[in-house]
Amino acid sequence: MRLLSHLNQRTLRAVIAFVFSLFCVIAFGHFQPGFGKNEGVTNIFSPLSQPAQEIKETSYLVLVVCAVIFIIVGGLLVYSLVRFRHRAGDEATEPPQIYGSNQIELAWTVLPILIVFVLILVTSRTIADIQNRKPPRGAVQATVVGHQWWWEIRYPELGIVTANELHVPATTEDKRQPAFLNLQSADVAHSFWVPQLAGKTDVIPNRENRMWIEPTIPGTYLGNCAEYCGTQHARMLIRVVVHTPEEFDRWVREQQQPALMAADAAEGRKAFLANSCVNCHTVRGTTADGKFGPDLTHLMSRETLAAGAAPNTPENLRLWVRDPQRIKLGCLMPNMQMTDREVDQIVAYLQTLK
Ligand code: CUA
Repeated sequence: MRLLSHLNQRTLRAVIAFVFSLFCVIAFGHFQPGFGKNEGVTNIFSPLSQPAQEIKETSYLVLVVCAVIFIIVGGLLVYSLVRFRHRAGDEATEPPQIYGSNQIELAWTVLPILIVFVLILVTSRTIADIQNRKPPRGAVQATVVGHQWWWEIRYPELGIVTANELHVPATTEDKRQPAFLNLQSADVAHSFWVPQLAGKTDVIPNRENRMWIEPTIPGTYLGNCAEYCGTQHARMLIRVVVHTPEEFDRWVREQQQPALMAADAAEGRKAFLANSCVNCHTVRGTTADGKFGPDLTHLMSRETLAAGAAPNTPENLRLWVRDPQRIKLGCLMPNMQMTDREVDQIVAYLQTLK
């Protein structure tokens, strides 16, 4: 009897832990991230684009089938535990010894095979649907390159290079405009994941993976690198900014411009070009043409710094230029040991890169 109540307590604790973990998993996707403007919640169960919608429908089917199996198996298990539990006086008799039943064995072999077969068919149809999609005329094509720890984003046909914030037009009824992404890596394996728009796609060195998204609602969608890629994997965030078609055209025109040559930032520009910033960064229209770090031509058009590690404010920009390790420990931009004057000048210059 003591043993039984002891067991019950342990079982109760296990059940509470299970329910609590389940609650955490379900609730997790519903919390807003710590900072920044965010119209979307990163939750795979509230997709706002193809192919995420299609993936959700398939997932629900799999979840429902598994839930039904779980309830049946768990129910039978609980029923047997209760119905055939140990009773006083049981020691004297032996329960009936049953061996083999062709019907039952056939049933529990054939049924699961059928269920798995249905799931295989549905899943492969979804996968084929998503993978075989060909870019229609006028689709936006972007190349996304994963770096430790930021995303390079190129639009080869539009002549635009930016970082960490992927801009795409929304698809409308009369103009379908999916965006097709070529995913590449400059170093190690990463994974591109914006839960509300599409499933994860791994980003692998020496290989080009493809994916597409087709959002219909303008706004900012958050995502992150989903494959552990080193120290700052957690701060390798992605923003997908979905514009109305007109806004997207305006964004394209602005990004295509070379960097502004503001007269009042001449000192800062000189300091920037004289420092080793230029070995890693490009500012189109100047001699800075480094390829190792993000293109800074329109730095001020971006919402965040350091791949989403901090909002792009003047204070953060200053801190970032002064000592990047304070914002993103381990990032590959070193502290350049610049004087206060140099930092001020360079920050003033960067702020003109609209
Ligand atoms: Cu890139 Cu994790």
